[in-house]
Amino acid sequence: MHSDHDTIVILDFGSQYTQLIARRIRELHVFSVILPAESSLQDILTHHPKGLILSGGPASITQTHAPKLNNKIFKLGIPILGICYGMQLIAHHYGGTVKPTPKREFGRADLLINDTQDLFKGIKTKKSFPVWMSHGDSVEKLPAGFQEIGHTPHAPIAAMRKSKSTEHVYGIQFHPEVSHTQHGSTILKNFACHICQCKPTWTMGSFIDQAIADIRHTVGKDKVICALSGGVDSAVAAVLVHRAIGSQLTCLFIDNGLMRKDEVAQLQTTFDSAYHMPVRIADHSSTFITALGRTTNPERKRKIIGRHFIKVFEYEAAFLGTVNFLVQGTLYPDVIESLSVNGPSATIKTHHNVGGLPKRMKFKLIEPFRELFKDEVRQLGLELGLPEHIIWRQPFPGPGLAIRILGSITSERLTILRNADAIVREEIEHAGLSRSIWQFFAVLLPIQTVGVMGDQRTYEFVVAIRAITSTDGMTADWAEIPHSVLAKISNRIINEVQGINRVVYDISSKPPATIEWE
Ligand code: XMP
Repeated sequence: MHSDHDTIVILDFGSQYTQLIARRIRELHVFSVILPAESSLQDILTHHPKGLILSGGPASITQTHAPKLNNKIFKLGIPILGICYGMQLIAHHYGGTVKPTPKREFGRADLLINDTQDLFKGIKTKKSFPVWMSHGDSVEKLPAGFQEIGHTPHAPIAAMRKSKSTEHVYGIQFHPEVSHTQHGSTILKNFACHICQCKPTWTMGSFIDQAIADIRHTVGKDKVICALSGGVDSAVAAVLVHRAIGSQLTCLFIDNGLMRKDEVAQLQTTFDSAYHMPVRIADHSSTFITALGRTTNPERKRKIIGRHFIKVFEYEAAFLGTVNFLVQGTLYPDVIESLSVNGPSATIKTHHNVGGLPKRMKFKLIEPFRELFKDEVRQLGLELGLPEHIIWRQPFPGPGLAIRILGSITSERLTILRNADAIVREEIEHAGLSRSIWQFFAVLLPIQTVGVMGDQRTYEFVVAIRAITSTDGMTADWAEIPHSVLAKISNRIINEVQGINRVVYDISSKPPATIEWE
């Protein structure tokens, strides 16, 4: 669908960073669309692009089946920027030579530029700066009409340009979109805003308008279901879809009895009173707790919860009559992760089995955030007026407290953990640390230790506090919480939570430990 905003079309040659390019362009308040590399000229022109970016990609143009470019794009008379593989395609098209590099470059390289007319406007020429490379091939001979505008010690032509009144074609051998590349945003801004002359008019508000129009168009008069998880992604997706189609949407929250203290009630209040969106809260907690029985094995717990979620979802959905669409808050990193079969999380813990829906329920998916990153969804949620406690909710695993109670799950243990966890959260929030700590929670250990309380011997459970800093959950370090805060947490838990007489602080990083204990 064509946007009213100036648009950059990104042709995707399979780089893991393509979405990041789109994101950087959005940060400039310019609209961008990603299209497959082989898109027809007609498809490209539907978007009235003011510029084209050719992404990088894993292929080598020296291979026979390397992804090709629709050469007609060079006749459009709009500026083109090729990144890595994209640059090599440009060089090849214009008659330059691309060869495997004697020394492949992955990671940091130092770029020295010699021209600041357009693409490198505002960057100093005399001093090299770090850029992020990932290439096995490089341009060996410049195509006719091009000029070299930057090099690194191993890539004599790391940036090139052909700039005539009717042709503005650029190639760079590095990734301006990654944060490790210094001046990367300046380079993209120079391309989008100066060379292509895009006006910076696009905002998250524009995203909302566009998404609402798309959802209405896709759904028509059909019914739609959204399974809320309590997390930010599904909550923002639900509010967005509700704005688009109102009562055609039914939100379902399956209470598995494994949520944190007061969470279910809070969810209901938020949606009911703030949005007048009825949420069907289906309390199946006893089903889950009974099914977990005496299970202690973490993987078995996950599987049991996953299987029952599917059963219960089918049962609940049957009440709604014919529903054709399912809303999911899938983010771009989820899309990438589900493509990488060997991703670390897939092998270490079966995260994604939990909350998965039955394949036989043939829903068409509505995933409005497939191209967005978490912080963009948060921004969108704020624009839609969602409360801070939902926007900033820390990641919470699908199997919930079942994997934070080591050993078997009982109602009594759930109550103990909920109360201890609520204290951890309260105190970390009071200390103003909740935004700087990625996740903070309590874990109930299946061991009892001896203590003394009011001259009486006690023999009670141990709670561990887990608090980590991280940027993506893939690696993490334990948070250096001030001792005074830890002391307050420990003191409150031991005094206020019956059944606990000892509190310990987990000082393990990931790896080798994981964030959750199971
Ligand atoms: P780990 O424990 O693997 O956790 O270091 C990394 C991130 O994933 C969350 N996590 C889960 N999320 N289902 C989920 O949806 C799961 O089974 C699961 N296990 C861990 C964890 O909270 C952290 O943010």
